[in-house]
Amino acid sequence: MAKQIVVLISGSGSNLQAIMDAISDGRIQGQISAVISNKAEVFGLERAENADIATEVIDHKAFESREAFDTELARRIDDYQPDLVVLAGFMRILTADFVRHYQGRMLNIHPSLLPKYKGLHTHQRALEAGDKEHGCTVHFVTEELDGGPLAVQGTVSIDADDDASSLQNKVHKVEHQIYPLAVELFCADRLVWSEQGVTLDGVPLPATGHRHS
Ligand code: GAR
Repeated sequence: MAKQIVVLISGSGSNLQAIMDAISDGRIQGQISAVISNKAEVFGLERAENADIATEVIDHKAFESREAFDTELARRIDDYQPDLVVLAGFMRILTADFVRHYQGRMLNIHPSLLPKYKGLHTHQRALEAGDKEHGCTVHFVTEELDGGPLAVQGTVSIDADDDASSLQNKVHKVEHQIYPLAVELFCADRLVWSEQGVTLDGVPLPATGHRHS
């Protein structure tokens, strides 16, 4: 049975597009029930509308508190009874109650090789640290920001002439490979979270997740 997916975005939605494409190609046994954005008029909403996917905007600025926003967000997500919630450039810090509600069925993508560089400005930080390697991570979401168990990582090399912008472009290309892959594995019941950790095909994943090369 195809899994039902709700995708949360705040911006251009290129990762959303990569997942939509993998669904169209038949790689992902799932369908996107809705795309929800906390910002109106972002390009990601247009991508969803062009594919006849339901869209909703829930403006976080209209809510008194983080809790009030998250409560409404969860209510609207749960209308679709999703098997999986995908955070694809959703730039909001989520409350513990919200995260717990989706434990084991909410994925995020972060533009660094976690646990390195949680938070913002990851490309600049990797350059300043003199790293030779950088990348991106899909992980299950827990209460710790960018701290949940890792599912899939993809790497890029940092070259002498790279700046934050060239590095961001390189990482983005790899994001578009590993996010559809992680969603594919989840929807095929191959990538599974439990209290004991994350398994792929029944085998516990190392702390670095599955390395995609
Ligand atoms: C992606 O690079 C993603 O890794 C990042 O936002 C971008 C969204 O791009 N997410 C975070 O930084 C989360 N902490 P997109 O809208 O084109 O998919």
